[in-house]
Amino acid sequence: ENRPVAGGKRVLLAAPRGYCAGVDRAVIAVEKALENFGAPVYVRKQIVHNIHVVSTLEQKGAIFVDDVGEVPVGARVVFSAHGVSPAVVRGAADRQLQTIDATCPLVTKVHREAMRFARDDFEILLIGHAGHEEVEGTMGHAPERTTLVNSPADVANIVVKNPDNLVWLSQTTLSVDETMETVRLLRERFPTLQNPPSDDICYATQNRQVAIKKVAQDADLVIVVGSANSSNTVRLVDVALEYGAAAAYRVDYASEIRQEWLDGVNTVGVTSGASVPEVLVQQVLDDLADAGYGDVSQVVTAEEDLMFSLPKELRKDAAGNP
Ligand code: F3S
Repeated sequence: ENRPVAGGKRVLLAAPRGYCAGVDRAVIAVEKALENFGAPVYVRKQIVHNIHVVSTLEQKGAIFVDDVGEVPVGARVVFSAHGVSPAVVRGAADRQLQTIDATCPLVTKVHREAMRFARDDFEILLIGHAGHEEVEGTMGHAPERTTLVNSPADVANIVVKNPDNLVWLSQTTLSVDETMETVRLLRERFPTLQNPPSDDICYATQNRQVAIKKVAQDADLVIVVGSANSSNTVRLVDVALEYGAAAAYRVDYASEIRQEWLDGVNTVGVTSGASVPEVLVQQVLDDLADAGYGDVSQVVTAEEDLMFSLPKELRKDAAGNP
């Protein structure tokens, strides 16, 4: 147990935090592509939702675009960790692009589920955030059969064709608690609603939420490192507030921490989203130490050792053979 010194200032550092296996793989994929093939390497959308990662890769010669239509014909393009719809793959083929698919394997798993349920004549209720790249990619795998459910409040307005042939799937980076609430309400309306064959909210999202729940119980303030468009990062702020943190803020960089956030604060909880390099957390800890919060203890709720192999186009055998 981490015991505070009476009146002492301290930091509780959540673990796990930061990079997940899918982000690690996607960032290495861009670095390797630059190394193997030279700059520029095009990347469709932000490879992962972190401003620091994107600008670092830009300096190394990556060019980020919103649409494969912006990539010169025949050039090399990496698809981001959030995945793409089949329409994007077709668009890339039309331009004879050489594609490297850095879609997280746990997102690909959800794509496969969507295709299988669509083939089996199910209607899919996809719980996720409208406009998020992962949601666009997943919906694109079963566009005729998928309805997006944005939040618990959305459930009352969902229109389905056949209420007896429904399955729910989800985005990988949602709040576990809010998603369960959405499912509960969906099942109230549609009692025969089927569950996905396995968790769609990924291990990394779940583990980071469990860790920040424990930290938040004892924290006056929680600082979450990560970018505004990072779904799992923003969820960590929500979860910290729900679990007892008096205040919780998201920052991209340590320099965004405001002096007044620390007024009267003894215990600061710190965590980071799944797309955040540890160096950014270290800068936060350094600044907190300068402000008198040098006593840091980790709150460990799980160990992670998952790793994914690189996209096949980047494995040793250049032909991509196993
Ligand atoms: Fe994949 Fe989950 Fe990370 S879906 S990219 S392991 S946040």
